[in-house]
Amino acid sequence: MIGKSTIDQVYETARLEEVIGDFVQLKKSGSNFKGLSPFTDERSPSFMVSPVKQIWKDFSSGKGGNVVAFLMEHEHFTYPEAIKYLAKKYNIEIEETERTDEQKQEANERESMYLVSEYAQEYFSNVLWESELGKAIGLSYFKERGFTDETIKKFNLGYCLDQWDGFTIAALEKGYQLNYLDKTGLTIVKEDVSNPNNSKKFDRFKARVMFPIHSMSGRVLGFGGRILTNDKKAAKYLNSPESDIYHKSKVLYGIYYAKQAIAKEDNCYLVEGYTDVIQMHQRGLENVVASSGTALTPEQIRLVNRLTKNITVLFDGDAAGLRASLRGIDLILEQGMNVKVCTFPEGEDPDSFSKNNSIEEVQDYLKNNSKDFIQFKANLLAEEAADDPIKRADTVRDIVNSISKIPDAIKREIYIQECANIMKVSEGVLFSTLAQIGKKNQTDASKNVRQEQKVFDVVKNEAAVEKVDVQYELERKIIEMLLLYGKEEQQFEDLVLKENEEGELILEPESLEIKVYEKIFLDLQEDEIEMTNVQFRNIYDVLIAALNEKEDFAVNTFLSDLDQEMVSEISSILMEEEKYVLHDWTRKEIYPKEKTTVIAQLVSETILTLRCFLIKKRMHSLQKNTENNPEDNRETLEEIMNYLQLNNLLNKKLNRVLS
Ligand code: CTP
Ligand code: MN
Repeated sequence: MIGKSTIDQVYETARLEEVIGDFVQLKKSGSNFKGLSPFTDERSPSFMVSPVKQIWKDFSSGKGGNVVAFLMEHEHFTYPEAIKYLAKKYNIEIEETERTDEQKQEANERESMYLVSEYAQEYFSNVLWESELGKAIGLSYFKERGFTDETIKKFNLGYCLDQWDGFTIAALEKGYQLNYLDKTGLTIVKEDVSNPNNSKKFDRFKARVMFPIHSMSGRVLGFGGRILTNDKKAAKYLNSPESDIYHKSKVLYGIYYAKQAIAKEDNCYLVEGYTDVIQMHQRGLENVVASSGTALTPEQIRLVNRLTKNITVLFDGDAAGLRASLRGIDLILEQGMNVKVCTFPEGEDPDSFSKNNSIEEVQDYLKNNSKDFIQFKANLLAEEAADDPIKRADTVRDIVNSISKIPDAIKREIYIQECANIMKVSEGVLFSTLAQIGKKNQTDASKNVRQEQKVFDVVKNEAAVEKVDVQYELERKIIEMLLLYGKEEQQFEDLVLKENEEGELILEPESLEIKVYEKIFLDLQEDEIEMTNVQFRNIYDVLIAALNEKEDFAVNTFLSDLDQEMVSEISSILMEEEKYVLHDWTRKEIYPKEKTTVIAQLVSETILTLRCFLIKKRMHSLQKNTENNPEDNRETLEEIMNYLQLNNLLNKKLNRVLS
């Protein structure tokens, strides 16, 4: 268990925009930040972060909340994991009691898999640095490859001894369950059908140097293990199998170490292998990730897309795989990213090249040899097909196909012009090919458009609901006012019934200076109004209590004590204004005027409107009663008359407030 004081300190220290900034590239937008939703595949930003309120809202998925909610959504952390992550980020010491055996069992499946992976990483590193064989074999291998102690430690590299089950035995002795060793693939279990107690266990990574694979937030998800012999029968690299925590298609090797540099440099180098990443990093180029030898997936591209729009793909010197890899790059274009490619001299790869050259040389090389992908492809193919008319036709189609993936129409047009030059064909031909391909892609494209449309639809639908459900909106508004202005002292103008000198009842203006939350509480109490929406009612109760008890009420600390469902609801309410800003921003950068309504007026207006609404609702149902029961309805009619009077009074008050 994490102590309450640690949790409080975490909430006080953590800056939402910094935490989210590690995952999503945020741009200042008015008093907020905006960025691409990390939860959907969108191209125009609908993800908003409010540094003042310390809450976020993703208008394309509807998710929202505080800093902890973000980590729980994005990294799939549990609550304690999120707190621990923040504590680590902000160097806050965690007061915590040691996990008991019982607690170890209670932790859920995935958590257990994370824990056993973390243990494995520590174990393999320990073997590398501490054991004689580890040092003699594993460490000396990494040194030979040119990695420094610092680098080896930073990337948590390790070694798995040449034993059948050394690691497995150690993990079991530590109390980790075979089940999770099996599920993470660290141990291979061979069942003995006749005698289940006699099943055999092997270390998957026997006699391999270990490369832990981290998530964006630095958790160990799996491993790559490299064999050290030249055994042709065994795979050079062995990787963790797919599991509940390791999805090969969704991770990029090195992203945890690279994310800040990628955002800072506004470019990401994409390489093939583990060692390419590590060597470039050691050379001082930290904005580098690897696809680990497989074809790039849209999910992987999205990881980068959040950090930068620019990607440079680095190809090994051997041109063999080049043409095949070119296809994968169309995927990157489809996501609206700018792609460059850079090839290395024959026989060199990013690993060897950065090992053998200074950082200035590497930087210069990359600068001078990175080519725009479309131009690169056009040049390459044009060269190949120069003397072969049939091949040329294919080539043209191939390139136009790539161009057709680019979402931006202006960019498409520029590329068409350039390619016409390179390929020595007329622009007209290229444009008509583009149109043909365009038709074929239309079904895909309309899917994308529909996706973008969804953002608008969400806003539109919500607007439609607002008109229908007045009570819901008013209740929500009251919560919002409590959150934003609860503690503010305001001058409230009211009309009160008074007896004048002649003994008549008249309405007299009265002015009252109280806090907003007091005004709301007193007025609602007067009519015995309870919110109909259960969630709002709960929030209302805790809010009023907090405003009443805490001298220095602040939304941020208030949220830290609530359950995540409430936090999410409150975030939606607080982000309401932002939605309209966003909505209008999406349409042509027009910002609506700041909310200028005087707070007191807004509060009075809302409460009075709600009261009028409830009275009308009550009158309406009474009226229905009289219709159903026409014989004796004198009492009911009297009641209606009373309500009518009250309604008139409230309307007068409302008019006064509004004037
Ligand atoms: N790879 C793999 N399985 C293999 C071979 C390769 O998963 N059998 C992945 C690894 O992630 C590897 C990447 O593909 O890092 C690139 O492969 P390769 O170029 O062969 O490896 P290098 O990283 O260059 O490895 P080394 O320099 O150690 O030979
Ligand atoms: Mn290599």
